[in-house]
Amino acid sequence: MNHTLAIIKPDAVASNKAGAIIAHLEKEGFKVRALRMTRLNPEQARAFYAVHSERPFFESLVSFMTSGPVIPMALEAENAVPRLRETIGATDPAEAAEGTIRALHAESKERNAIHASDSDENARNEIAFFFSQFELLGL
Ligand code: CMP
Repeated sequence: MNHTLAIIKPDAVASNKAGAIIAHLEKEGFKVRALRMTRLNPEQARAFYAVHSERPFFESLVSFMTSGPVIPMALEAENAVPRLRETIGATDPAEAAEGTIRALHAESKERNAIHASDSDENARNEIAFFFSQFELLGL
């Protein structure tokens, strides 16, 4: 089994889509191994998205990701990283395949409902960013 990190973003939490998104993930075969609701401060959002710090959308992304609560989750499945990326769809909801979480729930390229880790190494780092060993229950 493999693990990956998903974050239900502030747009989806604010519009009461968290339950539908978690149900969609479970239906796709992901097991939720850790979950919490939290609100990032700007320092945390900048650290989480450090790889994008030179991009023109960075400050806007930090502002969006700190605008309200988020729900990070550690998810377990076979081939969890590619499978989650397929399940959520392309960054831009206009390009996301039909039936994907972003096609169903995202508003825009920035306000795109959910984040997913893009490699096994980033998944390990991103899970550790949000969850302690104690919360991971032996994962
Ligand atoms: P995510 O998968 O969390 O990774 C980086 C985030 O930056 C992305 O989802 C979007 O929320 C945001 N993003 C990526 N590209 C753009 C863009 N061109 N304009 C605005 N936001 C973007």
